[in-house]
Amino acid sequence: MEGAIAQLKADGVYKRLNYLESPQAAHVRMEGRGEVLILSSNNYLGLCDEPSVVQAGHDGLKAYGAGTGSVRFICGTFAVHRELEAALARFVGTPAALSYVSCWNANEGLTATIAEEGDFVVSDALNHASIIDSVRLAKAITKCTTAVYKHGDLDDLREKLTANKGARRRIIWTDGVFSMEGSIAKLPDILQIARDHDAIVVMDDSHATGVLGATGRGTAEHCGVVGEVDVITSTLGKALGGAAGGFVAGNAALCDMLTQRSRPQLFSNALPPTVAASALASVQFLEAHPERVQQLRENAKYFRQAIIEAGFKPLPGDTPIVPIIIGETAHAIRMSEMLLDEGIFVTGFGFPVVPQGTARLRCQISAAHSKDDLDRAVRAITAVARKVGLSK
Ligand SMILES: Cc1ncc(COP(=O)(O)O)c(C=O)c1O
Repeated sequence: MEGAIAQLKADGVYKRLNYLESPQAAHVRMEGRGEVLILSSNNYLGLCDEPSVVQAGHDGLKAYGAGTGSVRFICGTFAVHRELEAALARFVGTPAALSYVSCWNANEGLTATIAEEGDFVVSDALNHASIIDSVRLAKAITKCTTAVYKHGDLDDLREKLTANKGARRRIIWTDGVFSMEGSIAKLPDILQIARDHDAIVVMDDSHATGVLGATGRGTAEHCGVVGEVDVITSTLGKALGGAAGGFVAGNAALCDMLTQRSRPQLFSNALPPTVAASALASVQFLEAHPERVQQLRENAKYFRQAIIEAGFKPLPGDTPIVPIIIGETAHAIRMSEMLLDEGIFVTGFGFPVVPQGTARLRCQISAAHSKDDLDRAVRAITAVARKVGLSK
């Protein structure tokens, strides 16, 4: 193990943890560095330190205590979980929802619960790691058939569904927003393909909940198809308060079956009640303040335009994820460290998170950023690119 770690360091791809001494916000206090501007958090709406969200966490702690004590069906579940799940279902436009301690858990528990031997599960090549693992697990557990279609390639998706038309059931898995690209799934087309091939659509909307659509209801709202996606999974650890937690949203029978059978529900504690309370307050805040989503959209547009005017060619897109491709992993990590020396925190992502040779600085914009913050970030990225001789 020590040898492998030394090699990561020698290759310049070792990840260092940066410790924060203040709440997650546009500006944070970082141990050993002082005030730092963050452009790499999922705090899209600035709700991590929103007073009503923090207060709800305090109130939840007082009302329900610190822990859940065990698994939900074994020792009882809390009223705040039910309230949160009703709010989440209302928000994303499904009849029901079920919470998990993370979206990773929600995804992992889902496929093996809904798929059976004889079913066919097909997944976009750039889907999140939690979906990839979920499908692998489902294949191992249920002996269902699985395949991966080329990213966003709907002809490939159609071909794979046609080749498996004899399957008992077909399930299409897609991200709503692809987190490393900042691109949006072609959801209306995917829904049409699902209708044509009698398939179920399951969409992970972790980077779209609270982000896309006029009121932040996600990819379905962005595409004008709220209520048409069979199953939506998402996280509470990004726009919705940023603490932790995830959920599956769909019909009541699905949520009931997940309660009966999905392994994280049966063998792992529920979301701590204080976290459920602050997530519920985040949903309520967002329902009362859709203008936060508009602010996020304006900020993302402003930054994208400014970074293009500075000569960079970020991957195109309509989301607050603005990736600047650097190439080598070590270069992306080095640039990220140089930016931190300038007081700007933008993470460099390399292999194995993204394919070899496509390492990137992934800038993430928040409604909490001011125009000055965004201008400062563009100036710093430009200066660092010049120092390392990066041709933009
Ligand atoms: C698309 C997607 N799905 C799932 C997750 C996992 O979310 P959580 O942190 O709630 O486990 C992430 C987080 O990175 C994600 O980007």
